[in-house]
Amino acid sequence: MKDCDSQKRRNIDVVKVIPYNIFLIGFMGSGKSTVARQLSPMIAMDVIEMDQEIVRRERMSIPDIFTEYGESYFRDLETKLLVEMRERSNVIVSCGGGVALREENVEEMKKSGRVVWLTARPETILERVRNNKERPLLDGNMTIEYIQSMMEKRHTKYAAAAEVIIDTDEKDLYTICEEIIQRLRQI
Ligand code: S3P
Repeated sequence: MKDCDSQKRRNIDVVKVIPYNIFLIGFMGSGKSTVARQLSPMIAMDVIEMDQEIVRRERMSIPDIFTEYGESYFRDLETKLLVEMRERSNVIVSCGGGVALREENVEEMKKSGRVVWLTARPETILERVRNNKERPLLDGNMTIEYIQSMMEKRHTKYAAAAEVIIDTDEKDLYTICEEIIQRLRQI
């Protein structure tokens, strides 16, 4: 994903057209957080960063939550946060990469919003995540082969959840956001 150029940035029109929540799903490093931040001023919607919100509430890093309490505890926190989204509208939720794995999470997301799946090639993902230490599931597994096999295992879950699919490879940030807005207007 390339950064948008300043000319395009100046030309952003704030369009308040989306009366529901937008849930960005996708593999780690697919660009959910970056896209959420760019999209936010374009459509005048706030962002909730699920991982950050969980870290804030638990006062622990994601790796520490996994080590201390285990993955299923973390997954329950994700589900709880999504249930709270029923009471919210007009927010962009940048989901953790595993959110679409639970069917009840997908049902929750669809209750209050639309689900947008950001995709990227394993090579792109590796490039984006390789220096990050905050992803326990990739700790010690930073290879294209591992990422590819994990992506394959998750593919049907992401596909079942997605109402819009956006490929992020080789596109600048602004183009990705414009595509999201355009596609959401069509459904
Ligand atoms: C996870 C993705 C991470 C974080 C946790 C588990 C996953 O979020 O929620 O490490 O299972 O894919 P990002 O997708 O924001 O990295």
